[in-house]
Amino acid sequence: MDLDRLFNPKVANDHPRLERLFEMAKQDFWNDSTVVDWKREFVMPAAMRRPLARILSIIYYGERAALEVSAQLIGMVDDEQAKFALAAQVIEEAKHVSVFRRVLTKLDDVHPADPWSRRLLTDLVVTKNRVAKLIGMQLIVENLANHLFHHIGESVPDPLLKELLTYIARDEKKHTGLAALYLPFVLPKAGLLELQIIKAKQLYWSFCLDRTIYNHRFDADALGIDLYAAMIDGLESQERLVEQIGTRRGIWKNRWLEGLSLKLYKEHAERRKAAIRVQEAAA
Ligand SMILES: [Fe+2]
Ligand SMILES: [Fe+2]
Repeated sequence: MDLDRLFNPKVANDHPRLERLFEMAKQDFWNDSTVVDWKREFVMPAAMRRPLARILSIIYYGERAALEVSAQLIGMVDDEQAKFALAAQVIEEAKHVSVFRRVLTKLDDVHPADPWSRRLLTDLVVTKNRVAKLIGMQLIVENLANHLFHHIGESVPDPLLKELLTYIARDEKKHTGLAALYLPFVLPKAGLLELQIIKAKQLYWSFCLDRTIYNHRFDADALGIDLYAAMIDGLESQERLVEQIGTRRGIWKNRWLEGLSLKLYKEHAERRKAAIRVQEAAA
């Protein structure tokens, strides 16, 4: 960090929208220990518990990595308003880790990390580049987690889980918002070689993320989540966030690879529908 800035009596307020995000975070503050009655039991079919725990375990490790990355970013950005918004994110991610640990313990167990999500999260934690962290964690991973929360909330008929996911999703929207507001200021400062490296990283992260999700396709089936529809939703929302940033500088996108990945999800969805039809006909 710039130490001259630390002792500069004048503070620039170049980011009023980040200041508003910080205000919003303080207004929205919720205590995970008291906001719900943790003595309540989950009400859902027994067959959903383990597949749900496997999917939520991916999110649990993601929340732990988000805690690390948001804390690292505080020391990597210069603007005070960005530091404030990130400081709010740190406490929010700590609450999310705490919530998912309680949920998983209550539901089933914390499952080992999926190898592909482990590769992705490790790279996000160890990368020394702030733009890469902002794009990878704040824009890609957080956006996907948000969509996953939405689809789980719609498919799993449990009021306690729905309540918790609503609180968490409200925080996560602020985290993607932080990236969308701050990236237009840091992206123009990135050099050409740096941008190429960041784009190559996005290709690697997208592959890791895709493998992680595809590895959990049968868990999603057990919960009644249509991963093909969820992937399309996630990609469309990613595109809206990029439009919000207002520049594609440093943003990687390859429609051919996206199409290839979507084809696999579509084929899986069709195989599943055909299997259900056979089951129904036999019943
Ligand atoms: Fe989170
Ligand atoms: Fe987050």
